[in-house]
Amino acid sequence: MSAHASTDVPILECSGLRKRWPDGRVALDDASLVLHEREVVAVVGPNGCGKSTLLAALAGLETVDAGDVRFRGVAVALPRTGARPTKSDEEAARRHRLRIGVVFQSYGLFPHLSVGANCMAGPRHGLGLAANEAERRARAALARVGMEEVFGRAATELSGGQQQRVAIARALANDPDVLLFDEPTSALDPQRTREVGALVRSLAAEHRRAMVLVAHDLDLVRDAADRVALMEAGRLVADLPVKNFFATSDPMIRRFREHGKTVD
Ligand SMILES: Nc1ncnc2c1ncn2[C@@H]1O[C@H](COP(=O)(O)OP(=O)(O)O)[C@@H](O)[C@H]1O
Ligand SMILES: [Mg+2]
Repeated sequence: MSAHASTDVPILECSGLRKRWPDGRVALDDASLVLHEREVVAVVGPNGCGKSTLLAALAGLETVDAGDVRFRGVAVALPRTGARPTKSDEEAARRHRLRIGVVFQSYGLFPHLSVGANCMAGPRHGLGLAANEAERRARAALARVGMEEVFGRAATELSGGQQQRVAIARALANDPDVLLFDEPTSALDPQRTREVGALVRSLAAEHRRAMVLVAHDLDLVRDAADRVALMEAGRLVADLPVKNFFATSDPMIRRFREHGKTVD
């Protein structure tokens, strides 16, 4: 269950996000979402509805045409499409990115670095910690995901499931306030999906940090999420407690649960 009180300022929220790609395709169309402290919100929706773009915008990794992201009530200097950011905007955006840990479907480890160096990079160069403290953080994060043994190995020598666990450790090493997962098990075979899924479930169950979980695995959503937000054509069209999401007979949500589509 969600641990937040209803009066809390959300840890992360976005409102009215809009983004159109140069080819005219609309990725975000008035997308709004609220995430409370320690809450786990799943974002689901058909392929191409804008989930990855939404996560990237929340993390400050993708430009937007309009709309706001707020962190604990304070507007984030979001990169704007076509605008040249000022030095202070860039610095504010950099600080924002450090509070947010992102785990991508395709792991995204630095291929030329060891596992340990991957996990030390954020603490060392992002947070500016001394090398020994960065290493302590990296080792603790790797221990959390059961990968402390591979500290010195090359990232690319690992299996996909191991790389994804290292990617989760890399996100945790910065001790972020919010974790964003973008289909963390979608690139994995069934066995690795179970392993990484178990890890995502256990991080969600800790309720130590707020999480947004984009997933098409509805079993994972059911186990991990407090709330489920349904996205369609660039906007969030439904948002309900996880129990209600799986129980409701609302036609659009049922169609999505049964066929992965919101419209025929
Ligand atoms: N870099 C890009 N350039 C142009 N179009 C893109 C790009 N990334 C995504 N899109 C398009 O934007 C829409 C939303 O994509 P995405 O956010 O990846 O959706 P989802 O993660 O829900 O599958 C889709 O129509 C997709 O084809
Ligand atoms: Mg996606």
